[in-house]
Amino acid sequence: MKTLGEVLTLASQFLKERQHIRARRAAEELIAHLLKLKRLDLYMQFDRPMVEGELEELRALLKRAAKGEPFEYLTGEMFFYHCALAITSDVLIPRPETEILVDIACKQLQKEDLVGKTAWDLCTGSGCIGIAVKKACPELQVVLSDISNAALGVAAANAQRNGVEVELLLGDFLEPFGSRKADFVFCNPPYISKNQYNGLDGSVKNFEPKQALVAEEEGLSFYRRLKDALPQHLHPGAKIYLELGAGQGQDLIQLFSGPEWRKAYLEKDWAGHDRFFFLEFE
Ligand SMILES: C[S@@+](CC[C@H](N)C(=O)[O-])C[C@H]1O[C@@H](n2cnc3c(N)ncnc32)[C@H](O)[C@@H]1O
Repeated sequence: MKTLGEVLTLASQFLKERQHIRARRAAEELIAHLLKLKRLDLYMQFDRPMVEGELEELRALLKRAAKGEPFEYLTGEMFFYHCALAITSDVLIPRPETEILVDIACKQLQKEDLVGKTAWDLCTGSGCIGIAVKKACPELQVVLSDISNAALGVAAANAQRNGVEVELLLGDFLEPFGSRKADFVFCNPPYISKNQYNGLDGSVKNFEPKQALVAEEEGLSFYRRLKDALPQHLHPGAKIYLELGAGQGQDLIQLFSGPEWRKAYLEKDWAGHDRFFFLEFE
């Protein structure tokens, strides 16, 4: 029987030999996940014996990690803006930038009277945005939608896991909403062009759903669809919170320059890229 300390050394060696860029850290995180310990607590339990069942599970995880599979798919869970989320290969792994979007929005929303107001999270994936917003603003009625039935299943499980009641709609973009209207709309749509997709890192391209990443028309198709179809779905004064790809800011400013928009402005992410676009409907 091997001790935790011995297994940690062997596991990091295994990943290092397979050119894993964060071999030691990844080994620590996988063992901590498996044993339901905090990563730093591993060092207090170096002499703890690991049983064969644990080793077998770890071997399987290490093989997947060595092929570059992202940590969140290996563990099947992550934290996003005060929410514990289940993550499967049916959904995009929520990015830290998206937490900025949720943070900015929640700080604005919490100043408003939200009773009877509706928020939509289009292209919801894991449900991260809509669920985090509902948790922060429980008075809001929140609807999550996606074209992927499997993604909606993950979003439904995540809503339940976080104790929030939301409505789920399956279908192509705004179609499932019929003639309904919203007060707040969130959308982090696919925005990567086909060319950009070919150059993506293997950890993204080989594991995350292509449907969650790639959009037609140089990555702008969902924003163009929003520009055409969204106004008829908005209550007066509605606020829109969008995430966009690096370099798409000026395209969005141009697209949404019509008089129906009282405000239209970009915000940057931590790296200084235009990453968010906010709109206010007349
Ligand atoms: C970039 S991911 C965003 C997921 C999540 N909102 C987030 O921020 O992590 C885009 C999502 O859009 C969905 N999607 C792709 N095409 C769609 C369409 N035509 N209508 C609705 N959803 C679509 C994908 O299934 C995927 O879940």
